Amino acid sequence: MAKTRLVHRCTECGATHPKWGGRCPACGAWNSLVEEFEGPAEVTTLAAGMALFPAGIATPIGDVDANTARPRFTGISELDRVLGGGFVPGSVTLLGGEPGIGKSTLLLQLLAGWIGRTLYVSAEESAQQVRLRAERLDAVRPDLWLLAETSVPNIIATIDELKPQVVIIDSIQTVADPDLASAPGSVVQVRGCAHRLVQEAKRRDITMVLVGHVTKEGGLAGPRVLEHLVDTVLSFEGERHHALRLLRASKHRFGPTNELGLFEMAEAGLIPVPDPSQLFLADRRTGVPGSAVVPTIEGQRPLLVEVQALTNAFNGGGPPRRSVQGIDSNRLAMLLAVLERRARMPTAQHEVYASVVGGVKLSEPGVDLALCLAIVSAMMNRPLAADLVVCGEIGLAGELRQVSQTQRRLSEAARLGFAHAIVPASAPAAPAGIKVSRVSTLPEALRAAGLIGEMPTGLHAVT
Ligand code: TYD
Ligand code: MG
Repeated sequence: MAKTRLVHRCTECGATHPKWGGRCPACGAWNSLVEEFEGPAEVTTLAAGMALFPAGIATPIGDVDANTARPRFTGISELDRVLGGGFVPGSVTLLGGEPGIGKSTLLLQLLAGWIGRTLYVSAEESAQQVRLRAERLDAVRPDLWLLAETSVPNIIATIDELKPQVVIIDSIQTVADPDLASAPGSVVQVRGCAHRLVQEAKRRDITMVLVGHVTKEGGLAGPRVLEHLVDTVLSFEGERHHALRLLRASKHRFGPTNELGLFEMAEAGLIPVPDPSQLFLADRRTGVPGSAVVPTIEGQRPLLVEVQALTNAFNGGGPPRRSVQGIDSNRLAMLLAVLERRARMPTAQHEVYASVVGGVKLSEPGVDLALCLAIVSAMMNRPLAADLVVCGEIGLAGELRQVSQTQRRLSEAARLGFAHAIVPASAPAAPAGIKVSRVSTLPEALRAAGLIGEMPTGLHAVT
């Protein structure tokens, strides 16, 4: 029997400490330490397919069968995009998201389209409830098996009996292992169950998806530590009151994590959105001050999004208000300072509200120019041309810098009918169908966009 020892684990950061305390010495969280018995290190971090090889025996690289680690298409295009092709057999994925966002719906649709036997373990809803949802989704298939069960040993016994290719555990927070002393839902239970299920999935080469509810703050309720046990961590986001859903990978052992998957929640389930630019611009009103369109890149896909700004004259009394949505607030502060110093825009005398339409978060620097133009357009109450897109990074000297994949961004803009683009002077040749203005400074960009007239003397110093 393996030796165990008592440790105190932080439910926030996962660090273990020999002594209990009111505060975690590693991350500083209060009242987060719980008692846990820790066994010897186990093979939980094995990559998918590793169980196929005898441990500790070296193999010539040419004899290793790479096909066992190839992803298998799910048939849901936006999910395959995020996963880099599909699920690798034997991989374990954690799907996190707020309650009601559509996790169960997505997974039921996944199983409905899977060729081969699959098992959906519902530890939250009754089999009847799941069946009713499956009817709406056209997911009542002979190969899809349903188990309403919360006990992990019973789940494993069913897996042994059915031998499914894919197993969904909905959710990891509601299953429990009677061998563990703690109450269901506790951190020790959630960790212990995840640990055991991951091992069973690896041993049988099963593709497994664990559903995890997240709190409003975005953390997995309690055990962030689950992220270390699985191969892939996906998060499903979106405004519950809007139809758009965004799927991202924050950890992925088998591919890049920068792809964004987009879905629309409709009457009959989630529908992939292959042309998101059109969706993002659908409700756009042209001729309104404070709006700029930027061709941005999410993973490999160009995406046109609208950046909006609103400014109000500010009469002193504390610092002027700045509010952002979908944009980094430090980036906004920096750009406001650059506008003030390099383009003589009196930003300190304005409250500034800025947001990205559609609930997307933009973190790439190519958005800088659009944000600046939207702010100046709002301040001057002058709209930008309806068929204009802008992109470029802005430096502290007010200079415009090139961003990656300009040509792909501009092709997407041209495809959607934009006729004019403002880009940094150093950007590569533009694709056909779009007229390009090359500028090297922020004041030049403001002029090219028609927001200011001739540049005041002195501004030419910035080149
Ligand atoms: P659900 O998958 O149950 O969310 P989660 O598992 O993340 O808690 O989805 C819940 C919401 O989705 C619910 O408000 C109803 C809505 N919905 C649709 O709009 N269309 C559908 O076809 C389905 C199945 C659900
Ligand atoms: Mg659910």
